[in-house]
Amino acid sequence: MGGREQVAKQDDQAVPLPSGSTTTAVSNDAAIAAVDVFCGIGGLSYGLAAAGIGVVAGIDVDGSCRFPFEANVAGAQFVERDIRDVTAEELSELWPEGSLRLLAGCAPCQPFSSYRKGVSPSSDDRWVLLRELGRLVEETQPEFVTTENVPRIHDKTVFGDFVKMLDRLGYSVDSDICRCTDYGLAQSRRRLVLVASKLGSAAVPEGDWRDRPAKTVKQAIGNLPPIGAGDTHEADPVHRSRGLSPLNRKRMAASKPGGTWHDWPTELRAPCHQRSSGAAFKNVYARMSWDRPSPTITTYFHNFGAGRFGHPEQHRTISLREAAILQGFPVDYRFAPQGEAAPLTTLGRHIGNAVPPPLGEAIGLSYMESLRAAS
Ligand SMILES: C[S@@+](CC[C@H](N)C(=O)[O-])C[C@H]1O[C@@H](n2cnc3c(N)ncnc32)[C@H](O)[C@@H]1O
Repeated sequence: MGGREQVAKQDDQAVPLPSGSTTTAVSNDAAIAAVDVFCGIGGLSYGLAAAGIGVVAGIDVDGSCRFPFEANVAGAQFVERDIRDVTAEELSELWPEGSLRLLAGCAPCQPFSSYRKGVSPSSDDRWVLLRELGRLVEETQPEFVTTENVPRIHDKTVFGDFVKMLDRLGYSVDSDICRCTDYGLAQSRRRLVLVASKLGSAAVPEGDWRDRPAKTVKQAIGNLPPIGAGDTHEADPVHRSRGLSPLNRKRMAASKPGGTWHDWPTELRAPCHQRSSGAAFKNVYARMSWDRPSPTITTYFHNFGAGRFGHPEQHRTISLREAAILQGFPVDYRFAPQGEAAPLTTLGRHIGNAVPPPLGEAIGLSYMESLRAAS
């Protein structure tokens, strides 16, 4: 993704494009054709397409992903289906005849997320969804497979079984924990990435930024126009932040960049902060620092109580636009149809769930590279 700095269009509305944000033309005229199951709003697909992979379809049970997926992943169709109902025959029909097939699938990560400590994965039926991806791999045996999830999945039986199955089917498999700062993101997200290939060896890509200082929040979003809590910028419907209760407004005003709720006067502290166990929760109700990468953007980044999601200096949580930029979405990514408001909770969930497009692009490039090496 080549960088550019200019004023870009977001559904006809001009927003200053932060340094490092990018827009990439996508092409489906490619040797590798990908189907992205659990495609969401297309973070992974967009990145794969930017690497030159032809993304032909995305499958997701959530119909609210259709517009952003189809609007940004050129030539790809959105299939609204529960993966558990998708047969191998249906999946196979999506790949063009003669193409090298990539099956990409990032199952929902919530069952394994460290944000849900104490909740057994088996209590959430989404944990079986990686097995569903495995079923489709086993039944269709595409040339390439990739998946991404939270690092903790590495030690789970479901992941071990997935790798064993790939080994048994003759895939070359590589998996590693990727730091998103190594791929040029101003976000300290870490994700486990697995790549598998039946054509030569597969390798998780190393990021181009691994030997460079990590990008900071200031570099990523420091030039966006200010807005208030609960406001939407008049020129950009996606530059929208969540409102704050009167108590949280006071807490926000008392919060320091990079600080904790310990900076607040005692009367502003929540009951959980008063308990001794509350001392552990330093990274909630907190502001980001300008001069560091952001924390992991979760699906609740618009909620002050859910993490270090306060803007470094404005009295609000980060906006949808800021979260999207920290996730590596280009500023002209179309999240909602022209003239429609960007839905805070739904879009926030999709943005937080996404594979950062630059990571997706690096994965795509590693397949393109291995293809070149094998030919
Ligand atoms: C981690 S997100 C995927 C993000 C996406 N890869 C991206 O880069 O934007 C997981 C997705 O799985 C979808 N999902 C959850 N259960 C599903 C099911 N049973 N069948 C199909 N999709 C499902 C969710 O709607 C969500 O969009």
